[in-house]
Amino acid sequence: VVLVVDFGAQYAQLIARRVREARVYSEIVPSTMPVAEMLAKNPRAIILSGGPSSVYAEGAPSLDRSLFEAGVPVFGMCYGFQLMATTLGGTVDDNGAREYGRTPLHVTKAGSTLFEGTPTEQPVWMSHGDACSAAPEGFTVTASTDVVPVAAFENDEKKLYGVQYHPEVMHSTHGQQVLEHFLYRGAGIEPNWTTTNVVEEQVALIREQVGDKRAICGLSGGVDSAVAAALVQKAIGSQLTCVYVDHGLMRKGETEQVEKDFVAATGAKLKVVDAEKRFLDALAGVSDPEEKRKIIGREFIRVFEQAQLEILQEEGPEVAFLVQGTLYPDVVESGGGTGTANIKSHHNVGGLPDDIEFQLVEPLRQLFKDEVRMVGQELGLPEEIVQRQPFPGPGLGIRIVGEVTKDRLDLLRDADAIAREELTAAGLDRDIWQCPVVLLADVRSVGVQGDGRTYGHPIVLRPVSSEDAMTADWSRLPYDTLAKISTRITNEVADVNRVVLDVTSKPPGTIEWE
Ligand code: XMP
Repeated sequence: VVLVVDFGAQYAQLIARRVREARVYSEIVPSTMPVAEMLAKNPRAIILSGGPSSVYAEGAPSLDRSLFEAGVPVFGMCYGFQLMATTLGGTVDDNGAREYGRTPLHVTKAGSTLFEGTPTEQPVWMSHGDACSAAPEGFTVTASTDVVPVAAFENDEKKLYGVQYHPEVMHSTHGQQVLEHFLYRGAGIEPNWTTTNVVEEQVALIREQVGDKRAICGLSGGVDSAVAAALVQKAIGSQLTCVYVDHGLMRKGETEQVEKDFVAATGAKLKVVDAEKRFLDALAGVSDPEEKRKIIGREFIRVFEQAQLEILQEEGPEVAFLVQGTLYPDVVESGGGTGTANIKSHHNVGGLPDDIEFQLVEPLRQLFKDEVRMVGQELGLPEEIVQRQPFPGPGLGIRIVGEVTKDRLDLLRDADAIAREELTAAGLDRDIWQCPVVLLADVRSVGVQGDGRTYGHPIVLRPVSSEDAMTADWSRLPYDTLAKISTRITNEVADVNRVVLDVTSKPPGTIEWE
């Protein structure tokens, strides 16, 4: 394992992903972890991330010197670079040499471990106030910029390397190469971490964990639960039962995708619970978004629990495991323990109360989303499932502004299917993060169709681009595509006489309307 020490500000996750793109397994650890504990993980190399602080700021995170004396190769980036410099006796000061954004880097030592084979002039992404003016003893300066004399250094004998910039961001055009040089040349690591290995390793671990007991997995129609289920299915076959709660709030074709395509691809045992009526009854008369979310979450848990009880009765009492599609970012973030404001009550498959005693099987805990998709592909899941864009657990229930009824759901399903069809036809699926289609059920406007007056509802298109859904921008879709979607929706969906485009970023608007 390569450890990425997190000094804050979200750089660590990106670095960990880049290391894995170099086919080397990596994990993130907080900078507060004692060095002895880091070393106890037997890392092949350690990377120190950037961070928001100045090394001289009060309370700035620091590192024990022993980290650099353990014989483990270390690569410091930005804050990590400055920390390495000051800890080992170099000089970092606030000499006004600030650099933010794209900066030309001058490589001063050709053939250095990090820069071998990269241009002597290369753009890099900088973000720093303080700067290193003298490298520690025993280090060779390998690059500089117009304002920073020491922008990179290395001590090949001790396997210590550092760069002032952020090699992990794509604006540092040779960043990945430099990172790979550190991993392969500096640390001597063989790149052999692949999704095939992940599948093999997880299958073995799941077999070991579950033994001859049984497991249940809730399917949501989304990528994570599908891949988690497929992995467990591969490991324990008929010892797994999948449960799919059809709450009637899915989009067109999605339930069939789970019932037919997923089962065909995996051979999994599937229990489908048709709970549409139950959900619609519970939602009758409710327009408030939070109330809707709470009702859907509550009903979901009840239906899922009921299904579990039935499976327990059918399969015997040894059903002991619950499979969940928890991903690595969730693991890292819940370890970070930062409190955030409750903007919306999110609901996910398998959010269960404490009184049910299952042990969790979480085969995706080590993976980032793009890796989960690759594993899904490896397992032979259909493209529509593996490449599916994010869709909220409460489904179309939170895409109808106003009361949720069957008729409105059917109408929205038709409009949504048209939008998705046209976006796919235009080849835009990979360009957008997701495109919620929203029905403003309580709004009517006047229109004219076939010489007659209409008084129908507007449909909102909300295409966004995003990296992680925390922030988003509205997607600049081609007018032709928008025109086609608009024409088709107003022609083909009764009661809709207007299509509008949401051009709000997040913040201030959230991605979903409710
Ligand atoms: P917002 O609307 O908060 O959405 O900007 C951010 C991302 O989360 C999705 N979303 C949900 N996903 N359960 C989920 O699993 C939920 O309750 C939920 N609500 C929003 C939304 O589609 C977007 O990708």
